[in-house]
Amino acid sequence: MATDKIRIFDTTLRDGEQAPGCSMTLEEKLRVARALADLNVDIIEAGFPAASPGDFEAVKAIADADYGPVICGLARCNPEDIEKVHQAVNGARRHRIHVFVATSAIHREHKLKMAKEEIIRSAVGAVRMARELADDVEFSPEDASRTELGYLAEVVSAAIEAGASTVNIPDTVGYTVPGEFDRLFRYLKEHVEGIDGVTLSVHCHNDLGMAVANSLAAANAGARQIECTINGIGERAGNCSLEEVVMALKTREEFFGLHTDVDTRRLYPTSRLVSSITGMHPPRNKAIVGDNAFAHEAGIHQHGMLQHASTYEIMRPEDVGIARSNLVLGKHSGRHAFRDRVRELGFELDEFETNRAFQEFKKLADRKKDVYDGDIEAIIMSADGATSGPYTLKSLEVRTATDRDALTTVTLIGEDGQEQSASAEGDGPIAAAVKALEAVTGVAVELRNFELHSASVGEDAQGEVTVTVEHDGSSYRGNGTSVDIVEAGCRACLEVINRILRRRTSGLSAPPSDPTRATI
Ligand code: KIV
Ligand code: ZN
Repeated sequence: MATDKIRIFDTTLRDGEQAPGCSMTLEEKLRVARALADLNVDIIEAGFPAASPGDFEAVKAIADADYGPVICGLARCNPEDIEKVHQAVNGARRHRIHVFVATSAIHREHKLKMAKEEIIRSAVGAVRMARELADDVEFSPEDASRTELGYLAEVVSAAIEAGASTVNIPDTVGYTVPGEFDRLFRYLKEHVEGIDGVTLSVHCHNDLGMAVANSLAAANAGARQIECTINGIGERAGNCSLEEVVMALKTREEFFGLHTDVDTRRLYPTSRLVSSITGMHPPRNKAIVGDNAFAHEAGIHQHGMLQHASTYEIMRPEDVGIARSNLVLGKHSGRHAFRDRVRELGFELDEFETNRAFQEFKKLADRKKDVYDGDIEAIIMSADGATSGPYTLKSLEVRTATDRDALTTVTLIGEDGQEQSASAEGDGPIAAAVKALEAVTGVAVELRNFELHSASVGEDAQGEVTVTVEHDGSSYRGNGTSVDIVEAGCRACLEVINRILRRRTSGLSAPPSDPTRATI
């Protein structure tokens, strides 16, 4: 059966990154952009260049890297924003300018203080300007789902006439429901002249847990682009989750008559990359990529699965890139076995990366009898900032007791090869470790958040720690992995300290303390 294509517009690096705690460094954004290209998404919204110089640089770096998908940048309806997007994205062979303005009565009256006609004029002016700079222009009426239908149709018509090639309908506050959104899309299809000549797009937030359902309803009613993020990250309850919407379309292709070009076997590795970078791990029962998504515990289910997998399984784990097996590696496993397992888990490592990961695997296998898939993934994901210096952790000693402060001693090796140690007391071993790290490195940091995630199963499972710390009014995030959770926390803090020191020597400015994009 020939089915229509849905374009996948990934906004992990823009709307996803806007979520508190999800901001990424330029290097991390480049890794994610590369992974999105491997996933074969159609469009990457790389950021909001006018939001900050850091955002501009990141969008530009991604566009210049030109991994394949269309690279898009977001702009408000003003010449400065549009010009910035143009400068940032035009290094990519295929690029897009995305302009937006709010249209609902609530936004018109309370946020913009603009009349209906003024908003239309602003949208038309912005789309025209963007069209002079790029062939591919997307227009979004923010809060469209709470906008009067007749007025929404007027705005969309005007944007199409001005030259928009994609019109996106956002459910900005996650307010709509599938039946209502279906009606909205059908209304626009009927009342907007020229709508068949543009790509109709949908952008849903998940405040009522319906972002995926609403996006599918829109697709069923004519939308041919879905905006979504990996793991559904985004403002508040997040955005439409890419892996869920893609697998819904694939699994129910006969119902929707639609398909995407996403390489679904890259879904799990991409999800893993984003969660390990952001420290936002999907819950175990999250559809498609959660740890339990393909686990069958109940005896009756296991019995059914043994008879025929399709009794309880509508998708195969390997279709989403989960290569779970009972295979466990240990300290006698060789390089070959390790490399094969890495490939089966969906990672393509070059020689250098394989060597690094294999060395880490050997160290881990010395400390832990069984090395599971989750442990191997954690090794690959840990960028290990601590080893990119200037300091590396040589050793850590901790004393804790219920009736007195914890005492932690850290020994670091500096760039000159010299060892330096410091001991400190604190409310707990992490607080003490932070003080000891400060004493050796001279960098003062304040721990704001500490998240721990278990990479695999069992009492010797590796802990993946993500810390958020403040230094000089700026916020930084770092990751660390170890079978010892205090060591993992210490490595995460040291990663941040190293980054601060590297920034200092390279003369780069600090990232903003609050990466929230002020106007959205
Ligand atoms: O949610 C929203 O309305 C947006 C727009 C800028 C597309 O993110
Ligand atoms: Zn949004």
